[in-house]
Amino acid sequence: MQIAGATALVTGANRGLGAEFTRQLVARGARVYAAARRPETLEEAPGVTPLTLDVTDPASVAAAAKAAPDVDLVVNNAGIARMTTLVDGDLDDIRAEMETNFFGSLSVVRAFAPAMVERGSGAFVQVVSALSWVPFVGAGGYGASKAAAWMLGESVRAELVERGVEVLTFALAATDTDMMAFSDVPKNDPAVVVAAALDGLAAGAWEVLADDDTRGAKRSVAG
Ligand SMILES: NC(=O)c1ccc[n+]([C@@H]2O[C@H](COP(=O)([O-])OP(=O)(O)OC[C@H]3O[C@@H](n4cnc5c(N)ncnc54)[C@H](OP(=O)(O)O)[C@@H]3O)[C@@H](O)[C@H]2O)c1
Repeated sequence: MQIAGATALVTGANRGLGAEFTRQLVARGARVYAAARRPETLEEAPGVTPLTLDVTDPASVAAAAKAAPDVDLVVNNAGIARMTTLVDGDLDDIRAEMETNFFGSLSVVRAFAPAMVERGSGAFVQVVSALSWVPFVGAGGYGASKAAAWMLGESVRAELVERGVEVLTFALAATDTDMMAFSDVPKNDPAVVVAAALDGLAAGAWEVLADDDTRGAKRSVAG
C-alpha cells in the first residue's frame, strides 16, 4: 500500500489511536477523512476532512460512504470496552461491545469495500487486541467482540485479496489512551504502535502484532 497520495478514512478519529492514525497518515502524505460520531470533537488540521460517522448506525455509515467515495484506505479503529463479565455482566453492555467492535467494523467494510473492488485496489486496517486471543476476567464481552473482529479481518482478507483489496490486522495490548486510563499497567505509546502499523501497511504485511504481550497472546492460542 502506497500511503503517500492515498485517501484514507479513520473511524473514531477524534481521540486515542484514531487521532494518532490521522496525524501519522497526514505526515506520511495521505489525505484523511477523520470520522467521528461527534465531529465537533475533531481537531482541524491541514489534509484532514471531518466526517460524521457512528459505526453502529447504518444510515450514518451509508452517508459517510456516499460522502467519501474516493477512499482507498480504511482504518477500522472505533471501539468500546465496557469491562463486562460474560457470566453475570450486563447483557446490554456485552451487546454494545459486539455492535460496535464487530458489527460496526463489518458495516464499515461492507460500505467501503465495493468502491475499492470496483477500482481493483485498496486496503483496510482492522484494529483488534491481544484480548482477541487471551481471556481477561472483567473484559469477557470485549474479548469476545475483539476475537470476532479478528476473524472478520481474516475472512474479509480471504474474500477480497484476489480482487486487489488488502486487509492488515493490527493487534496490540495495553496502550496509553482513554480506554486504558483506569489502569496503571505499563502501556504502549500510541505513536509507537501506530507507526508500527503504518510501516507494516507500507511493507504489504497482513498482520502487525505491536508488542510482546500481543505476540505472546497469539502464540498461546496454538498451545
Ligand atoms: N488502548 C488500548 O489499550 C487498546 C488495546 C487493544 C486494542 N485497542 C483498540 O484500539 C481501538 C481504539 O481504541 P483507543 O484505545 O483509541 O480507545 P479510546 O481512546 O476509548 O477511543 C475510542 C474511539 O472510538 C470511538 N467510537 C466508539 N464508539 C463509536 C461509534 N459507535 N462510532 C464511531 N466511533 C466510535 C470513540 O468516539 P467517542 O469519542 O465519540 O466516544 C473514540 O474516538 C479500539 O478498537 C480498541 O478496541 C485499544
